[in-house]
Amino acid sequence: MNQAALHRLLVSKRPKLGVDNTQDLFNTRLSTNLSLISSLFFSLYPKENYEVYFHKLLTEIETLFSQRPESLKTLDLERLKAGNWYQSERLVGMQLYVDRFNKNIKGLNEKLPYFEDLGINLLHLMPITTRPSGENDGGYAVNSYHEIDAKYGSKKDFVNLAKKARSKDMILMLDFVVNHTSDEFEWAKKAMAGDKKYQNFYYTYPDRQIPDEFEKTLPEVFPKTAPGSFTYNHDMEKWVMTCFNTYQWDLNYTNPEVLIAMLGNLVKLANMGVDVIRFDALAFLWKKIGTISQNLPEAHQLIALFRMCLQVIAPGVILLAEAIVAPRNIIKYFGEGPLEGNECEVAYNASLMALLWNSIATKKTSLLHKSLIEVPSKPADSTWINYIRCHDDIGLGYEDDFIRDMGWSPSEHRKFLLDYYCERLDWSPAKGIVFMYNPKNGDGRITGSSASLLGLEQALEQKDKYKTEQAISKILMLHGIILSYGGIPIIYAGDEIGTLNDYTFTEDQDHKYDSRWVNRPIQNWKTVAKLPTAKNHTSQIFKGLKHMVQLRKKMPVLADTHPAIIHPSPNPHIFVFERSNGKSNLWVVSNFDENTQFLHVSWLLSIGIFTEDKFIDIITRKKLKIENNLLQLSAYSHIWIGTN
Ligand code: GLC
Repeated sequence: MNQAALHRLLVSKRPKLGVDNTQDLFNTRLSTNLSLISSLFFSLYPKENYEVYFHKLLTEIETLFSQRPESLKTLDLERLKAGNWYQSERLVGMQLYVDRFNKNIKGLNEKLPYFEDLGINLLHLMPITTRPSGENDGGYAVNSYHEIDAKYGSKKDFVNLAKKARSKDMILMLDFVVNHTSDEFEWAKKAMAGDKKYQNFYYTYPDRQIPDEFEKTLPEVFPKTAPGSFTYNHDMEKWVMTCFNTYQWDLNYTNPEVLIAMLGNLVKLANMGVDVIRFDALAFLWKKIGTISQNLPEAHQLIALFRMCLQVIAPGVILLAEAIVAPRNIIKYFGEGPLEGNECEVAYNASLMALLWNSIATKKTSLLHKSLIEVPSKPADSTWINYIRCHDDIGLGYEDDFIRDMGWSPSEHRKFLLDYYCERLDWSPAKGIVFMYNPKNGDGRITGSSASLLGLEQALEQKDKYKTEQAISKILMLHGIILSYGGIPIIYAGDEIGTLNDYTFTEDQDHKYDSRWVNRPIQNWKTVAKLPTAKNHTSQIFKGLKHMVQLRKKMPVLADTHPAIIHPSPNPHIFVFERSNGKSNLWVVSNFDENTQFLHVSWLLSIGIFTEDKFIDIITRKKLKIENNLLQLSAYSHIWIGTN
């Protein structure tokens, strides 16, 4: 049983919940988590030197709880009572940039009916706090963790939005940029002014000796635009660690004061009414010379420590791991061994995302299948965020040994994927851009909107109806998979109307070197206005997606209480998984090929699908197409087989 389950149990023993016993339950939670908090703390910060900071942390936990608004304290208890609410089939999310979606927070508020119409009830708002003007990595260089940037509105606007969203049972998710601050953050400014205390909040060094040691093994995140991992600061006359951009200073968590201060920032964010907190770039939280400084055991201990403290203060708030790392490493962010279920409740399923793009390019599902069955299963209380595209690039993070098992060379295979997606193959329908190609090791990533990467842009340019239909089918197929796989599906704003690449970033001084902006479009409200009457690709995509969203919400079998069962399809182009909750079953079948493909009924029978009339495609409510004992799946078709 993980700690959250214990807290749920303790709450369930109270017949009445309310303001009277919030303090009481806080005390119980603190004592329940205390031994774990202390062992995690002292494993990172040895007792002989840091005991006083442990006491500071405990005092801070009490202070932060006293600052949590009463309404949220009550909500926390309701959430505990509601069990694993984040595993529900009724959740469907959308990720968006507030300003690019509809001007500002007030503008977003006006669009709540749009989300309701599509069935969206979880919103991931990209960073909205203050940031440097000019380059700021889309707000991931933070000047503050809770002051809203004026271009988005005010704190009041946000609190109003949070209230309104809550009244509509909508969940809000915001980022907590836990690994770094901007160089304009108050701690960075004090460090630059010579304050040693704050210089020690970051990794700062008077000369290149230690930076050189680190750089021997630190991989570069943005090799083209920000090579190296340290930046010289003239004011401070010191080198500072900057794993991402030169203006993003890595926080030094070997200093317990940083942990305590950041816990305060985390709770302030939660106190604004945020339900899910996205722990940005959390794989990077602990650095050690001689390692790649990602996914280190200490990073996991630190995350669990944040989790255990936040759980005492605000048990209704959950954490999302943004760890875009190899499949075997992602799973660890749910917590392993004694920490199982005690790190993040939710993690991005970056593996599924990258594998789906691999299957589109290769038209084969073998790597997808192999990788999914070999990754250890996640703890029962956790869930995935399933997505196809987001504001970032697509990293080709497959396990090399799995690629070799397919008989492919990992480096050649990655080169093929870059070629396929980035207009280097005549026959490929994709239009994407190579991102951060590193000639030193041949690594590169891909940017582009899902519609453009799936061939819609090219098809429309060529006015090719057949290709347009294929692109639409691919868009709906990939979304159908994330809607049914198990976890919270998140649609990237714009994808619901097939938004194409936005090349205007090349004209913007602050964006032109970062091609991720090709997929950060301004929402096209003119297109949206025409949706009800339009008969074109946008309305086909929107309606198809909306239909699947509505279906999902009515199917308890899609709640993430039981993991997806991946079936080894005998046809290498077809991906088959089954969802089952002991009461009903659903089989999701997708053809990744441009030609019709077949599955023999005897195999369908072996996985429990009978081909009598009662089995239908739940999406179209049509009978399965069976001829000569073969189930027919047209190009890029995607069906949900269930019983009538
Ligand atoms: C995360 C964000 C990405 C950002 C990086 C640094 O990976 O998704 O957009 O550049 O963190 O904060």
